[in-house]
Amino acid sequence: MVSVEDRGFQFGDGVYEVIRVYGGNPFRLDEHLSRLAQSAQAISIPLTIQPDEWKVFIHEGLERSAYSECKVYIQITRGVAPREHLFPETPRPTIVMTFREMADLPASWYQQGVSVITLPDLRWARCSIKSLNLLPNVLAKQEANAAGAFEAVLIKDGMVTEGTSSNVILVKDGKLVTPALNDQLLAGVTRQAVLDLARKSGKTVEERAVSESELQQADEMFLIGTTIEVLPITKLNGASVGSGTPGEVTIQVRETFQSLVHQAIIKKKSER
Ligand code: PDD
Repeated sequence: MVSVEDRGFQFGDGVYEVIRVYGGNPFRLDEHLSRLAQSAQAISIPLTIQPDEWKVFIHEGLERSAYSECKVYIQITRGVAPREHLFPETPRPTIVMTFREMADLPASWYQQGVSVITLPDLRWARCSIKSLNLLPNVLAKQEANAAGAFEAVLIKDGMVTEGTSSNVILVKDGKLVTPALNDQLLAGVTRQAVLDLARKSGKTVEERAVSESELQQADEMFLIGTTIEVLPITKLNGASVGSGTPGEVTIQVRETFQSLVHQAIIKKKSER
C-alpha cells in the first residue's frame, strides 16, 4: 500500500531510476545507482542504502520475478507526512521497486525509424535530476502521440535539450552531435554508453549546444534511452530526415550498442 499522505503522491516529491536487465544482467547498474544517489542528494532526501545493498535487493527481485529480460523501476519519495510543503522533520523515505517483463520493441520501429515533433521545453531548471515530477514530459509525449509521432524533442530558447524520456543525437557529415550535459537535460546512461562506443570506434563526437535549425539540417538522427536503446528518427515535424530511412551511422551505432548488450549477456551466462 502507498499512503495518500505519501509526498510522492501529493507533491511528486521524489526521484527514480529505470534499469534494463538483459539476460538476467542489469545493464550499467553502477551508473544508474550513482545517478539515483545524486538525484536523491540533489533534493535532500536522506538515502542510507549503499550500492551493494541495492544490488542485493535487485538480485532478489530478479530471482523472485524469474524475469531475465525486464526493466527495474526504483522510486524513492520523501515519505509519508501530513500534507504540508515544508519537509517533515524526520523523513522516512518510501522506496518502491518493480520488475516488469520486457518484450522486444516492434522491429519495424528500428527498421523504418520513428517520427518526432519538436515542442517547447516547459520544464523546470534542474532537469539533470531524475525527479518524479514528469507532468511537462507527460503532456509533451501525449501531444506528440496525438500528432502521430513517437516522441517530442524539446526546445528551450531555440536549443535542443532532450526527448520527453530520451536523449537525442544527430549526425552531420559523419559526426555525432548531441547537447552537452547541463541542468537542462538528464545525463542519460545510454547516452554515455553510446558516446563512449562511438569514440572508441573512431567517430567524432561533439557535445555542445545544438540549435533547432541544426536538427532540421541533420543527415541522421536518433533517440537513445534505457528501454528504447538506439532508435532511428526518420521524420521530424512531418519532414523526412536525410533519405527518410535509418542512416548508415545510426545503424552502425545501433549495431555496436547491441553487441555491447550481447557481450553483457554472454558474460553473465559464463559466470553461472
Ligand atoms: N527515461 N531524458 C529523460 C527526460 C529521460 O526520462 C530518460 C530516461 C532519458 C534517457 O536516460 P537513460 O539512458 O539513462 O535511460 C533522457 C526513463 C527510461 C523513463 O522515464 O522511463
